[in-house]
Amino acid sequence: MKLFYCNLSLVLATAAGFTIQTGNINKYNSISTALYAGNPNPVFPVQYAPVAASPAISSNTNRRPIVAGNWKLNPATKAEAIELLNGLKAGGVHDSEVVIFPPLPYLSDALTILAGTGINVGAQNAGSNTKGAFTGEIAPSMLASSGCSHVLLGHSERRSLFGESDSSINERVQACLAEASLNVVLCVGETLEEYEIGLLKSVVDTQLRKGLAGVSADDLLMGRVVIAYEPVWAIGTGLVATPNQAQAAHVAIRDTLLSMYTNPEVASKMRIQYGGSVSPDSVKDLMAMPDVDGALVGGASLIPDSFLKIIQGSWN
Ligand code: 13P
Repeated sequence: MKLFYCNLSLVLATAAGFTIQTGNINKYNSISTALYAGNPNPVFPVQYAPVAASPAISSNTNRRPIVAGNWKLNPATKAEAIELLNGLKAGGVHDSEVVIFPPLPYLSDALTILAGTGINVGAQNAGSNTKGAFTGEIAPSMLASSGCSHVLLGHSERRSLFGESDSSINERVQACLAEASLNVVLCVGETLEEYEIGLLKSVVDTQLRKGLAGVSADDLLMGRVVIAYEPVWAIGTGLVATPNQAQAAHVAIRDTLLSMYTNPEVASKMRIQYGGSVSPDSVKDLMAMPDVDGALVGGASLIPDSFLKIIQGSWN
């Protein structure tokens, strides 16, 4: 078995259908492993059997996979960022759509170094104000006119650590979509506690309804929004959702979109990424699910070899 982060990876257990990997945390990822510390066999009461999309949503095999790398607050220096970017550049051009979200100070280097590779560059957040006395904010027009094509919005770390509410995320979504050249990756996902009491669907339903309020079906049909399903319990923990769990959540997302837009095409065309401890080892099984259209990758996107393998795995 090919183990990810080869020197340290250790598959400890497969409890309740989960693959639990520990010791695979790369040097950048100071994440919330505390959640599982001392508990190699967490119990998840809600299990999912294989689920298919609602018959009202036509099966759509034309969704181009999209893999994105969220660098979060990494790496610490521009020199390291440039090394990382050159590593990605060496991977050439890809069949899947690829986006990276570096920290703001590295955006311009990313745009320069990755020019010609087809890899898109996006920002990890944007404000909803367009200009004025808003110290520390970034306007969508600044990102668009600098060459960014994507903005990541509603990440669980923004929600939990920086108090971003569904309504403030929605303002950002709308402000970004007002810039014709910007696309949005909107993150949704439940916490461990919510998962355990069976609230996955209702949490994600609310986040989508509030996050996409006022967004037109046309914008969605043009592919300007990608949904990233990131269960909070899977982020940075090494605890990957099983393919069936991801599939069930993605079907729930399509059901909400169908109910919101009453247009099966919107639900069927929407690309939905899974995010949370994705590795080269887990990507293929996840991508084999009919409603998983890509991956949003944190820790593994900081290692060019791993990220390039994930991109490859998203296509093959
Ligand atoms: P990890 O891949 O490190 O779990 O992070 C996922 C994530 O939060 C991407 O946005």
